[in-house]
Amino acid sequence: MVDVEAFIQSPEHRPKSSIIIAEGIPLIDLSPINYKDTTSSLSIETLVKEIGSACKEWGFFQVINHKVPLDKRERIEECAKKFFGLSLEEKVKVRRDEVNLLGYFEAEHTKNVRDWKEVYDFNVQQPTFIPPSLDQNLHFQWDNRWPHIPPQFREACEEYAEEVEKLAYKLMELIAMSLGLEPNRFRDFFIHNTSNIRLNHYPPCPYPHLALGLGRHKDTGVLTVLAQDDVGGLQVKRKSDGEWIQVNPIFNSFIINVGDMIQVWSNDAYESVEHRVMVNSEKDRFSIPFFLKPALYTDVKPLEELTDDRNPPKYSPINWGKFRTARMQSNFAKSNIDNLQIYHFKLS
Ligand code: OGA
Ligand code: NI
Repeated sequence: MVDVEAFIQSPEHRPKSSIIIAEGIPLIDLSPINYKDTTSSLSIETLVKEIGSACKEWGFFQVINHKVPLDKRERIEECAKKFFGLSLEEKVKVRRDEVNLLGYFEAEHTKNVRDWKEVYDFNVQQPTFIPPSLDQNLHFQWDNRWPHIPPQFREACEEYAEEVEKLAYKLMELIAMSLGLEPNRFRDFFIHNTSNIRLNHYPPCPYPHLALGLGRHKDTGVLTVLAQDDVGGLQVKRKSDGEWIQVNPIFNSFIINVGDMIQVWSNDAYESVEHRVMVNSEKDRFSIPFFLKPALYTDVKPLEELTDDRNPPKYSPINWGKFRTARMQSNFAKSNIDNLQIYHFKLS
């Protein structure tokens, strides 16, 4: 029996019945970096400026002409549908547990309210590199759990991961340039990355005005590259006035958002923005985020090039491995206190 109460959002967090279809997040064409011969160097400059203002004003944007092959995306989307279509008995064969958080999970909570969805997680780099000094604190395992059905599942996931990861690194170069940094400034943080991909399935919900597919949250990693299907439901909190703005699906595009670690590196120049997912009573919705995350041993702190006497560092260093472990543990304990957040590291 499903405990319906567990899904009910408190009134201030329920979706409004009137959805704002505003201009929405910026749409950015990546042709200048992907189809170089047809463009001049000037448009790379323009592109960098567009990315910079999108990161500043929205923390979110959509990209087209990104060069991730459509067939790879369609293949993983197909596999996700087939996998989530299996019986619960079959899916729990690869269920997450307290030691290994990768695999299938049907009982996600965000801020202590159940999300109307089921998920499947896998890490992109295997095996995940665990530095010895973090070992005592990290009693987690990081081995992917591959289902046997559908048979092409693992290959589809790995091939898609490779492509979307390339896009994430290109975007990090553009973001670095937009901050006035060397394009490869962030590269070394990802040598032993902990990036992961999540398959999301939001089933139709009989009370879409009371529940959410995914409650309001910020992404804790560096950068998220999201593939959403054509159903729609993602909403972004507009920085200018705090309104929830729907992100309209655009065929073969990706939604990009800045995570907490860019906020810290950039010393708040680019902020990680809240977002959430609405459900509907008719359609299943599928989405696939790629979460770019640094190595476990990374101490994330405001970059020296971006701070000086007039703009001193706003954060003390955050060790990614410890930060992530603390957050995972509090997720498990489902404590009433808020998760560990970057503002806990804020220097006043
Ligand atoms: C997430 C997320 C949005 C979506 O998984 O962190 O924000 O549309 N997903 O599924
Ligand atoms: Ni998110």
